[in-house]
Amino acid sequence: MNVPNHIAIILDGNGRWAKKRHMPRTYGHKKGCERLETICDEMKQLGVKYLTVYAFSTENWKRSKEEVDSLMSLFRGYLKKCIKISEKNKMKVRIIGDIRAFDKDIQESILELERFSSQYDELHFQIALNYGSRDEITRAVRHMAKDVKEGRLLPEEIAEETISSYLDTAQIPDPDLMIRTSGELRLSNYLLWQLAYTEFYFTEVPWPDFDYQELIKAIEKYNERDRRYGGVKEE
Ligand code: IPE
Ligand code: IPE
Ligand code: MG
Repeated sequence: MNVPNHIAIILDGNGRWAKKRHMPRTYGHKKGCERLETICDEMKQLGVKYLTVYAFSTENWKRSKEEVDSLMSLFRGYLKKCIKISEKNKMKVRIIGDIRAFDKDIQESILELERFSSQYDELHFQIALNYGSRDEITRAVRHMAKDVKEGRLLPEEIAEETISSYLDTAQIPDPDLMIRTSGELRLSNYLLWQLAYTEFYFTEVPWPDFDYQELIKAIEKYNERDRRYGGVKEE
């Protein structure tokens, strides 16, 4: 089996998973967060080098205060646990998104996790928090414009690689496979630039039920794809 070098996941369906069980949405997030604790071990075992998950979008602030508060409390716990997970898997963690919107203690936990895990490189784990692709591109363009204005960048030097290097995902190869759980067929503002040639896999299975077997199914489907990048199929 050809294992993708980089898998991106939109972990969706926590709320519906809970609703089906007559439980509050926040219970679904708790279960989804538990699933997030084990997925890195599986990726490491399979030999995946990069994993990027969408945990909180720039649009998710529109949810009720109760739901946002509960997600923040789950992030607090998860960021602490992630230190152990990174140690176990020799995994470098990077948060993508604009973390300035979070409470100070969450920002500190993020910096601590990134600092601690910077010594590792066997698995690269990106967590998208307060992430939106349009926001990421907007911040990148603003930064580039500033560098042009201050003479550090020449407009005629701007290449596709330059743009990539200004994004939150700088240095990270583009995803080979993007998985979205729970049946929605859209990107919801996720990695618009980076997914230009990525294979997509959509499943009805909600995130809390997306177990190892489901992950293997997604990778098997990916293996059936014929990736061309605009060229001709090699016989
Ligand atoms: C994904 O589950 C987790 C986050 C967006 C934080 P949802 O909360 O979107 O679950 P559904 O889509 O409402 O079922
Ligand atoms: C996308 O899921 C964001 C995350 C998984 C964090 P949403 O559930 O927020 O997306 P929409 O609202 O269905 O597009
Ligand atoms: Mg959703």
